[in-house]
Amino acid sequence: MKLLITGASGLYGSKLAELAIARQYKVFSIHSQHEAPYGVPVKLDVTDKEKVDTEIRKLAPDVVVHAASMTDVDKCELNKEVAWKINVDGTLNVAKAAEACGAFLLYVSTDYVFDGEKGCYKESDQTSPISYYAYTKLKAEEHIKNTVSKFCIARPSVIYGATPAAGKVNFALWVLNKLKAKETVKVFVDQWNSPTLNSSLAEMTLEAAERRLAGIYHLSGASRISRFDFALTLAKTFGLDESLLDPTHMKDLTFPAKRPKDSSLNTSKAVQTLKNKPLKIEFAMEKLKVELDTLSKS
Ligand SMILES: NC(=O)c1ccc[n+]([C@@H]2O[C@H](COP(=O)([O-])OP(=O)(O)OC[C@H]3O[C@@H](n4cnc5c(N)ncnc54)[C@H](OP(=O)(O)O)[C@@H]3O)[C@@H](O)[C@H]2O)c1
Repeated sequence: MKLLITGASGLYGSKLAELAIARQYKVFSIHSQHEAPYGVPVKLDVTDKEKVDTEIRKLAPDVVVHAASMTDVDKCELNKEVAWKINVDGTLNVAKAAEACGAFLLYVSTDYVFDGEKGCYKESDQTSPISYYAYTKLKAEEHIKNTVSKFCIARPSVIYGATPAAGKVNFALWVLNKLKAKETVKVFVDQWNSPTLNSSLAEMTLEAAERRLAGIYHLSGASRISRFDFALTLAKTFGLDESLLDPTHMKDLTFPAKRPKDSSLNTSKAVQTLKNKPLKIEFAMEKLKVELDTLSKS
């Protein structure tokens, strides 16, 4: 399989490229500001319609995984024009080029398409974004549905992993670093989601691409958990001082963008369909521990 990944310098895309190469796929890794650590690097801005079209047609992939996105929800709220250009127009550019090659397209969306008032969302539940980031991701989903004949929309939630990527640490590494430095960490007790280990997401999405699974799939972790309990689980797993975790409420901190209260996802469809199943938090912690141990030895 010839696989083209956008966002291949990012937290999820870099892991997907690593996994796909281990499976002997030919991998083209689209990146922009940061280096892509795995695969054949291709520097390309997804907002450049003509270059996206020429480059993707030239590479003629069988599968395109489109994960490139402006992912900082506050920056999207403050820079709406840029967010629209990257997340909506950029997605349309990639979708049109993928369709022109007859490729299968897997688009990585988000749990934030829901307003967070209900939680445990199924694929068929009503979407209702409450931030500009989420609005652009939902508009991008619509472009995928209207442009591509063979597509899958995967919705993960709070992605984390063993290594920093695209110049950023993820939530789990941030908590672990703070606790190791014996610093207090403020974490929300009243925000719930379904944290998703990047390597597990890479396995699930690669299977979805290999099997050409069509439609929307909630591909997240299998546990609904508050940010605080997630941080507590990390502290316990890695033997760190849990008393440094400072339970905080969402109303106590202000951000430019609103966050859903409970954007946890129901993963039953993925559990029933996939061989690589969404992981319960305790299994994901074991996997993360192994990955961090392996890195520390290398
Ligand atoms: N992180 C989460 O908690 C989370 C939760 C739910 C859904 N998601 C979705 O999952 C996907 C992957 O997220 P992630 O956390 O792995 O992302 P990330 O680490 O923030 O990386 C974002 C990626 O997008 C690329 N990108 C941004 N603007 C670009 C442009 N104009 N042209 C080309 N590439 C561009 C970046 O490339 P450069 O760095 O090289 O510029 C980078 O590779 C995203 O679609 C995101 O919306 C993320």
